[in-house]
Amino acid sequence: MPKILLVTSGKGGTGKTTVSMLLAHALCRRDRNVLLIELDSGLRGLDLLLGVSDRVVYDLSDYLCGRCKPVKAVTVCDVPKGNLHLIAAPSDRYFVPDPNALASLLRGMSGCYDELILDAAAGLGRGFDVAASLCTSALVVTTPDPVSVRDAAKAVSMLQRTPPRLIVNKFSTRQLSADLPNLDSIIDTVGAQLISVIPEDPALPQAGARGALPPAASPAMGEIEDLARRLLGERVLLNIGRLR
Ligand SMILES: Nc1ncnc2c1ncn2[C@@H]1O[C@H](COP(=O)(O)OP(=O)(O)OP(=O)(O)O)[C@@H](O)[C@H]1O
Ligand SMILES: [Mg+2]
Repeated sequence: MPKILLVTSGKGGTGKTTVSMLLAHALCRRDRNVLLIELDSGLRGLDLLLGVSDRVVYDLSDYLCGRCKPVKAVTVCDVPKGNLHLIAAPSDRYFVPDPNALASLLRGMSGCYDELILDAAAGLGRGFDVAASLCTSALVVTTPDPVSVRDAAKAVSMLQRTPPRLIVNKFSTRQLSADLPNLDSIIDTVGAQLISVIPEDPALPQAGARGALPPAASPAMGEIEDLARRLLGERVLLNIGRLR
């Protein structure tokens, strides 16, 4: 089976799609060939963030249901080396991929790509089960919000086949003085190894609204670069001492 990274959460709005997209860009800058597959049936977003919504014709369900050839479901994104591709989410909100059909798609694509990234929908229903059964590694994205943390713990408990790593997103040092859980208690509650803490960064929604990348110097982007390096096996220390 190819390398398949599932980006998931439990609760909605934690930043799965944003992280998937920025991570894919960071991997492409390191010369990896990346295919992003959005699984969020009925709630497409990656095409907008990648600035290619006017180019998407076919989507994941079209391919899996035999309405188009694989190549027609793939949209090439605007990156300098042309090495970032997208399969857009099904427009039908009730669509749940058949596990065998999705596995066969992933196997077929594995020869063409170094990294397959599955951007999951919120929730832990049937779509989550299908994605979880096919991934070879997983990132669980939570915000410091207690509900999000509890849902991330549930997601982690359902991913025991491929123990996931934890991303705490939208982290703000402001919360150190507030009632939100600190990093240690988030890690304890979720029960997964921490791989990244991405700061709350207004540049992300601003750039997302334009279908553009945030400035490279914006606070979150440095952490995304480090995340990509860690996933590629580099030893990049987490600089979290000041956040605890
Ligand atoms: N680190 C961050 N700082 C500030 N805003 C962020 C950050 N990460 C994501 N966001 C914003 O949070 C919002 C939700 O992000 P996103 O759509 O990526 O979440 P999601 O988990 O994919 O949501 P869904 O569960 O609906 O699929 C977006 O407006 C996005 O720009
Ligand atoms: Mg999303």
